[in-house]
Amino acid sequence: LPVASFDGVVFGATGDLTMRKLLPALFHRFRDRQFPDSSRIIAVARTELDTEGYRKRAEAALRQHVDAASLDEDMLTAFLDLLRYHLVDALGEQGWPELVASLNERPDQVRAYYLATSPDLYGTICQRLAQHGGITPQSRVVLEKPIGRDLASAQAINNAVGAVLPEKQIFRIDHYLGKETVQNLMALRFANPIFERLWHADTIDHVQITVAETVGVEGRGGYYNGSGALRDMVQNHMLQLLCLLAMESPISLDTDAVRDEKLKVLRALQRVDPHEVNGCTVRGQYSAGIADGRPVPGYLADLGAESSNTETFVALKMQVNSWRWAGVPFYLRTGKRLPRKVSEIVVQFRTPPFSIYPRDQHELQPNRLLIRLQPAEGMRLEMMTKEPGPGGLHLRPTGLDISFEKAFGQRYPDAYERLLMDVVRGNTTLFMRRDEVEAAWSWVEPILQGWNDRRDTPRPYLAGSWGPTAAIAMIERDGRTWYESF
Ligand code: BG6
Repeated sequence: LPVASFDGVVFGATGDLTMRKLLPALFHRFRDRQFPDSSRIIAVARTELDTEGYRKRAEAALRQHVDAASLDEDMLTAFLDLLRYHLVDALGEQGWPELVASLNERPDQVRAYYLATSPDLYGTICQRLAQHGGITPQSRVVLEKPIGRDLASAQAINNAVGAVLPEKQIFRIDHYLGKETVQNLMALRFANPIFERLWHADTIDHVQITVAETVGVEGRGGYYNGSGALRDMVQNHMLQLLCLLAMESPISLDTDAVRDEKLKVLRALQRVDPHEVNGCTVRGQYSAGIADGRPVPGYLADLGAESSNTETFVALKMQVNSWRWAGVPFYLRTGKRLPRKVSEIVVQFRTPPFSIYPRDQHELQPNRLLIRLQPAEGMRLEMMTKEPGPGGLHLRPTGLDISFEKAFGQRYPDAYERLLMDVVRGNTTLFMRRDEVEAAWSWVEPILQGWNDRRDTPRPYLAGSWGPTAAIAMIERDGRTWYESF
């Protein structure tokens, strides 16, 4: 569906996110002619550059990050023509009047300010825009995660941005919500009654959510070391996944109807007692090892530091206190430099209350629903099946599989493509509301506090392994095990 012509203004335009994700996403949408060439993309940063210089950088980034088959040369030239560069000092006076004057040449145009900067600048940038007359009724502001680094800083940002724009013009992005397979979680649950009827503590034994990456911190050490896996991945992406899995059916697909239900899950999460943080969390930090088949340095070497207390891996055991979920643990784990890049959900059902198959001959595996978010997107329902043949009775676990590639066979748009077009459309459904972000921080905070009080360091794990053995021990203490699937 085409969107209206817009002015997109990207703060932090020379940064990693803009080059790796935002420009390629905009290019794809432009290439598919989803927005007209009367749109402008205004790149804003502090670097001394002119429009020509910026276009050169953008071109290099697009050649690197867009697949060759999509890189049509004419479209690339036309896309680069949409780019303008403005040097603006976010903290000073330089550049603001010129930027706003150029935007105000088109006062009725949809205007999207994307803040791909450090969150410390979100409040200031919004205030500056307002002072210079850059906020119009058609303006939206997009805030990248993380919104702050704890509850107080998140509230301060939300207050500062909220003083300038109403909530419906604020888009707090969590790119996981733009992933096709994450959106499919709602379809799976609310368009298929067979699952929803089984979706509770009577039938579900536990749920696992794994988001594993093979990359290390790459060039992002400066940001990452002040953040760590809990703030970088759990407070936002993984809690959002948990919400979609655990929430009640919204009364409709309306923006607030969906967000209200997610918020209830966040509020129902059992709070962690800071004194007992070690019973339900494990922190790890990668040391030198093998990743993607080659030797790689440890986190400290990647960082160029002597020591760091930042976790690059975290595993958690969580409870949702509600009638539906009481007694069903949710185990989450995420980390850098793990053996495979995979994001996956495992819903493990209870075993039969009584088995007619003699235990010494048949080990009944529990039914599991595996939801593969990326890569090789798909779903698999694991079940016990009788092996065909005239011999004795043998049961074997087999799976009902759905491969998204086979079923739909098309290129998967990157999450940012969908989300950026939603910003232009003014649709906030796949973005986080203020109260969601703050509820997520309030749940995370006692864990941060517990870690801080105990002053223990993250446990080392070899790059290329599944994290510290304590993470395995944590789930095995409950008589369960991390499940690695297809
Ligand atoms: C980002 C984190 O939000 O998500 C990164 O800041 C992480 O550290 C990335 O690598 C993972 O996203 P994806 O889409 O590759 O799973």
